[in-house]
Amino acid sequence: MAAEQSKPKGPDLTRGVPLDRLGEGAMVGGHVGEEAVLLARRGDELFAIGATCSHYGGPLAEGLLVGDTVRCPWHHACFSLRTGEAVAAPAFNPMPCWRVERRDGTAFVREKIEPAGKGDAGKARRQSTHPDRVVIVGGGAAGFAAAEMLRREDFSGQVTLLSLDDAAPYDRPNCSKDYLAGNAPEDWMPLRPLEFYKEQSIELELRTEVAAIDARARHVALADGRAVAFDRLLLATGAEPVRLDIPGGDQPHVHVLRSLSDSRAIIAKAQTARRAVVLGASFIGLEVAASLRARKIEVHVVAPDRRPLERVAGRELGDFVRAIHEQHGVVFHLEETATAIGAADVKLKGGATLPADLVVVGIGVRPRIQLAERAGLKIDRGVAVNEYLETSVPGIFAAGDIARWPDARSGEHLRIEHWVVAERQGQTAARNMLGQRQRFSDVPFFWSQHYDVPINYIGHAEKWDRLEIEGSIEGRDCLVRYRRNGKVLAVASIFRDVENLKEEAAMERAS
Ligand SMILES: Cc1cc2nc3c(=O)[nH]c(=O)nc-3n(C[C@H](O)[C@H](O)[C@H](O)COP(=O)(O)OP(=O)(O)OC[C@H]3O[C@@H](n4cnc5c(N)ncnc54)[C@H](O)[C@@H]3O)c2cc1C
Ligand code: FES
Repeated sequence: MAAEQSKPKGPDLTRGVPLDRLGEGAMVGGHVGEEAVLLARRGDELFAIGATCSHYGGPLAEGLLVGDTVRCPWHHACFSLRTGEAVAAPAFNPMPCWRVERRDGTAFVREKIEPAGKGDAGKARRQSTHPDRVVIVGGGAAGFAAAEMLRREDFSGQVTLLSLDDAAPYDRPNCSKDYLAGNAPEDWMPLRPLEFYKEQSIELELRTEVAAIDARARHVALADGRAVAFDRLLLATGAEPVRLDIPGGDQPHVHVLRSLSDSRAIIAKAQTARRAVVLGASFIGLEVAASLRARKIEVHVVAPDRRPLERVAGRELGDFVRAIHEQHGVVFHLEETATAIGAADVKLKGGATLPADLVVVGIGVRPRIQLAERAGLKIDRGVAVNEYLETSVPGIFAAGDIARWPDARSGEHLRIEHWVVAERQGQTAARNMLGQRQRFSDVPFFWSQHYDVPINYIGHAEKWDRLEIEGSIEGRDCLVRYRRNGKVLAVASIFRDVENLKEEAAMERAS
């Protein structure tokens, strides 16, 4: 869903904006030459920053100012108004900034200014506390974000990123969305080009399996027999799809979807497939269904649930999501399970047989905690970490799908499988591996795309006792609040992006 490059709208900001049109906390979207620019006021200060988010091109002028940051309405990336730095994922690239001049009650946007780095002041002091060698296990969301942040934080020691994957870190959420649907070109997928790792002296080793951790000797043992020493270690091994244990579940036309190569294998099969069965009505299963429909393949979804997404999003949103998929031709077989997969069909418990030359299994994932377990780290249905994302062994951190951390808001220990959570945990872990003491307290956020309907979700509600709908779900204009004992635990929204950001900011303030 990258924004199309069109001529920037709004006023020419070089001609000036009267200050009385720019109240405290206000933003004006306009342009400077061909570039979309956002002029913002915070107290007495004025800022001008690029207005097209460096993640997928979201319109920052429709986002929210929080403190001296601006938040993107699409996937909640957070940029510093002062420096343009992408201070919180999913964006990594900074935004350009412009100088603002105030004259005769008018704000004029002038020339572009060089991004201010963290500056040399204090660099030597910061570096004196740094370890020599950081090893990161896992080249996914958390692992990449950590490696990138280590360098942004002026870490000059050795960074080794070990990944079992055969591709450099990539946009995993897109593996079930535009990429699978055939709408995203190949070059959208890498989070950074390969040169980035060379330029940043990040030793990226692909197809490399870490087989064991020696927590005492401080090295990891690789499956190929080598050992890599560390002073700080980040475990970011993510999750693996649950495999289907039924007759025929291991045939070549039965796929799971976790990696880019899984997505490519489904695309290759989709070239000739005519009928697909998707097992599981989870977010990923449904996104796969939508993408295969975009490829004009007949799609049947089989799931034991009464309605899709009910456990996560509730009855009303579940029914709505089902209806959108049905409008696009998906056929649901709910309260059903597959009992066997043949060469060209899937047998259901209820007796039906569905023809299928492609089967995609999306029945959930399991965190990859075996390494941590064998190394004797504390396990709690995931790898247990403290609020700084450090495991029970000092110097070893964990982030992303494997990490269970104490959530300050709910008092519960959470393990959450979201892209942005994993990236932000990677960023926090990186800072903490360098000796900072930053609590991980971000409000969880995820998004999911069903055809032209995006659902944004903040917070975390495993159970709720009241669900409130503001606006209309069917009208694709709503906020859905999930409450327990009166407290809002989570909010889902459709096309109410700024309200969703406001709810997120309110949750942050409450923690
Ligand atoms: C198809 C798909 C679509 C998704 N869509 C969304 C979405 O829209 N929104 C959202 O919020 N979330 C989405 N998610 C979930 C999100 O991608 C995950 O929560 C996130 O990737 C977790 O990040 P991670 O770094 O913990 O693990 P991962 O990104 O899975 O990375 C783990 C890495 O560890 C490597 N690894 C594992 N074991 C070893 C080992 N022993 N040695 C070396 N390397 C190892 C793996 O190869 C991999 O590179 C989606 C997931 C999938 C699969
Ligand atoms: S487009 Fe801005 S965060 Fe994704």
